[in-house]
Amino acid sequence: VRRTTVPQIARRKGGEPIVSLTSYHAHTAAIVDRHADFILVGDSLGMVMHGMESTVGVPLELMIMHGRAVVRGTKKALIVVDLPFGSYEESPSVAFRNAARVMKETGCGAVKLEGGARMAETIRFLTERGIPVMAHIGLTPQSVHVMGGFKTQGRQEAEWEPHMADARAVTDAGAFAVVLEGMVEPLAAKITAGIAIPTIGIGASVECDGQILVLEDMLGLNPWTPKFVKVYGQLGPMIEDSVKRYAEEVRARTFPTEDQVYR
Ligand code: KIV
Ligand code: NA
Repeated sequence: VRRTTVPQIARRKGGEPIVSLTSYHAHTAAIVDRHADFILVGDSLGMVMHGMESTVGVPLELMIMHGRAVVRGTKKALIVVDLPFGSYEESPSVAFRNAARVMKETGCGAVKLEGGARMAETIRFLTERGIPVMAHIGLTPQSVHVMGGFKTQGRQEAEWEPHMADARAVTDAGAFAVVLEGMVEPLAAKITAGIAIPTIGIGASVECDGQILVLEDMLGLNPWTPKFVKVYGQLGPMIEDSVKRYAEEVRARTFPTEDQVYR
């Protein structure tokens, strides 16, 4: 099977909704691969896999390591890897150097970066040099310290224009899709109707051209569930129960049994 390509995703604008989830891990990625159009190796892995308080501390090497794991574990979906904070903002050439490393060392098909108008020059620079870019606007978690927290965007209509301008800027710069995170529905609808590339929503309503969730969130592994997450499976309690029974059986010497023993 050939992998889904960047142009195939771009052509889905206004069509069948684009399905996406994050994955950081070969075995979960293999499952997601059977159902998703693209898989994001998100820098949310800093929080989900490594217990960080935000994504700000995630190093490039970690993105590369998890990106490689997901590429190895999949064969069908387009793999997109997040550029972490500090690896691309300084200049287009720094961004190119780091994004090229990510592409070469993971085998992914595209990178994602946060920022709208301010990143347009960089998006163009990368795209023109062979690196497809997914943009990410609205609530941008890498800017948590500037925003003073994770805040839903566009609650006042007066705040809409800068987000609209961001969406237009990343489109004009050559981004093949854009993540809209944490924004009110009418703003997401207006952006989606106003640009020619697919919008991928997370906490941005059904008006988007596709949806993404953090896999661990929708599987019930996050002890805190944000409003925009729908929990499709309760893996937390399932893991808890399995670990508890294992612990009990080891203590009772009822595991391993005959079935697990080499004679
Ligand atoms: O890091 C991430 O998981 C993301 C998605 C939630 C869009 O950027
Ligand atoms: Na991210």
